[in-house]
Amino acid sequence: MNIQINLGGCAMKYDVEAVRRQFPAMERKINGYPAAYLDGPGGTQVPQRVIDKVVDYLTWHNCNIHGVFATSVETDNMLLETRKAFADFFGCAWEEVSFGANSTTINFNLGNAIARDLKPGDEVVITDIDHECNRGPWEMMEERGVIVHNVKVDLEKCIIDMEDFKSKLNDKTKVVAFNYASNGVGTVSDVKKMVALAHEVGAITVVDAVHYALHGSIDVKDLDTDFLFCSAYKFFGPHIGVLYSKKERLEALRTIKVREQDDWAPYKFETGTLNHEGIAGAAEAIEFIASIGETYGSGFEKELEGLSGRRRNVAAGMLAIEAYDQPITEHFIDELEKISGVKIYGPPKGHPRTSTVSFTMNNKSPKEVAEYLAERGIFVWDGDFYASKLVRVLGLRESGGLVRVGLAPYNTMEEIDRTLDAIRELAAK
Ligand SMILES: Cc1ncc(COP(=O)(O)O)c(C=O)c1O
Repeated sequence: MNIQINLGGCAMKYDVEAVRRQFPAMERKINGYPAAYLDGPGGTQVPQRVIDKVVDYLTWHNCNIHGVFATSVETDNMLLETRKAFADFFGCAWEEVSFGANSTTINFNLGNAIARDLKPGDEVVITDIDHECNRGPWEMMEERGVIVHNVKVDLEKCIIDMEDFKSKLNDKTKVVAFNYASNGVGTVSDVKKMVALAHEVGAITVVDAVHYALHGSIDVKDLDTDFLFCSAYKFFGPHIGVLYSKKERLEALRTIKVREQDDWAPYKFETGTLNHEGIAGAAEAIEFIASIGETYGSGFEKELEGLSGRRRNVAAGMLAIEAYDQPITEHFIDELEKISGVKIYGPPKGHPRTSTVSFTMNNKSPKEVAEYLAERGIFVWDGDFYASKLVRVLGLRESGGLVRVGLAPYNTMEEIDRTLDAIRELAAK
């Protein structure tokens, strides 16, 4: 099915079938039903070109770094080229891109490094809407006498309480950590404003863009954040994590590393041998997004003003993906609201959000809902997805958390209608 994308007065058709053809996993059937991958917030499917890139690396270039022979030189080049691809993804210099195992490991390493320069009585600020990945490393600092403040969430709207946020900042605040978008309920926060407020008191900002990265173009220079991380497996790539660090911040940081490791950005953040095949695949995931942008970029001339090359195509790709996803999301929310016994958790209409929708049903637990859908070939997550604090403050921990439906650019309106039909059936039971 083709959905009309309308933006800036320019209309074009998003050819979802052409996108789907690139993902071998779309061929799967479960109990005779075509698999509907609405589990994207936990990790997306992977296009053939990414799979080919991983295989190509392992087949022809597999090696460690800094040797003088072909495979090693190629590996060094591949790592540099992938840093450049992520520089276009983030809008930064390649020297500001470091690789790691995953976002959680990256953030623990970052937290441990920052903690070396903190003293008892210093303060850090985290939020109730965050994934444990951007809470755990900072909460652990309590052991060192650091005071940890939790910013409240407006429970009706599932958005950060900005007055509470401001009230937690003072001249003792050393680190402020928050997400760009909530993997629990899809809320996109005003991160630019939050970074600016944190900088007013001289704090370091750490933005978790893991959920957001599939849903919008990232511009770290515009955000002005000190650090930002994401995970390639959330946007068509293999399981690796990537860190953006403002160069001068990383240069000043006493990172956790072996003595022999280079002591400058971006290498000083990296420990041991990296996941080379995963990194090779991640570069191709960015090329995949850029290819969507190349196809649909002409619809976004105004938004893309001043951008060129792959950076422009990546930004265009993200705009096209969201322009496709958002009307389907709205349709899903509108229809879901009509089903009796369903309660949706997330930001109010008009507030920035990703195409991730979470809800509960009053006659079935989230696990029962997910199981019912799974039998029909519809993959959705249930639980707290490590947005554990949010689920707890929403009072949903004991009842099994939330059901989470997440759209990726290979999902269709038909899949959402199938999902709605199944939820209606279940509600009537
Ligand atoms: C918002 C958010 N932050 C952090 C993470 C953790 O990422 P990783 O699995 O790469 O450690 C996730 C994973 O679901 C996430 O959704």
